[in-house]
Amino acid sequence: MVIGILGSGAGSNMQAILDSIDAGHLDARIAVVLSDNPRALILERARARGIPAVCIDCRGFRTKFPEQAQLDAVAALQDAGVDLVCLAGFMRIVGPPLLQAFPGRILNIHPSLLPAFPGLEAWKQALDAGVPETGCTVHLVDEGMDTGPILLQQRVPVLAGDTAESLHARIQQAEHLLYPAAIRQLATDLAPRASA
Ligand code: GRF
Repeated sequence: MVIGILGSGAGSNMQAILDSIDAGHLDARIAVVLSDNPRALILERARARGIPAVCIDCRGFRTKFPEQAQLDAVAALQDAGVDLVCLAGFMRIVGPPLLQAFPGRILNIHPSLLPAFPGLEAWKQALDAGVPETGCTVHLVDEGMDTGPILLQQRVPVLAGDTAESLHARIQQAEHLLYPAAIRQLATDLAPRASA
């Protein structure tokens, strides 16, 4: 499994995937890391590990993922021989150019039990809603925001006295186990087709 990662922020999920590979729990390789943010820590973390890390020029758009930028991303991923794309804290919505290049091969991790609380700061949404538990979800990406078939979910309790920060930190601990597990599951599901 050759993985390409797209992220906009700290890259702790990328790190968790790398750690899982290093520990021999995941038979995969991260071939390239792409970001829309030239200052994102995820790029630094990747370079520190000798992984090619590239900033995708989003042509001045603040939130949109312009078509040409998506085509640039597709070219970088294909050049690196990627067969699975993992969104890890990537803050733009992917559209047809990427979806058509990697059909059924783009995953996302989201910090809630989808379909509850899609969108931004899902842990805050859960806290505001007063639910007793929330969690995280790994799903296949389609054209919607945090929609697409769910692969795996992990429940996380909301504790008395939780702040947005404490709840987010607990969800992230669960994410760091869930993402490698979901990739492992997908690799197993795809294996018979690959060898047929
Ligand atoms: C994670 O909480 C993920 O669920 C959300 O963005 C955050 C990314 O964190 N989509 P990191 O960059 O992997 O540390």
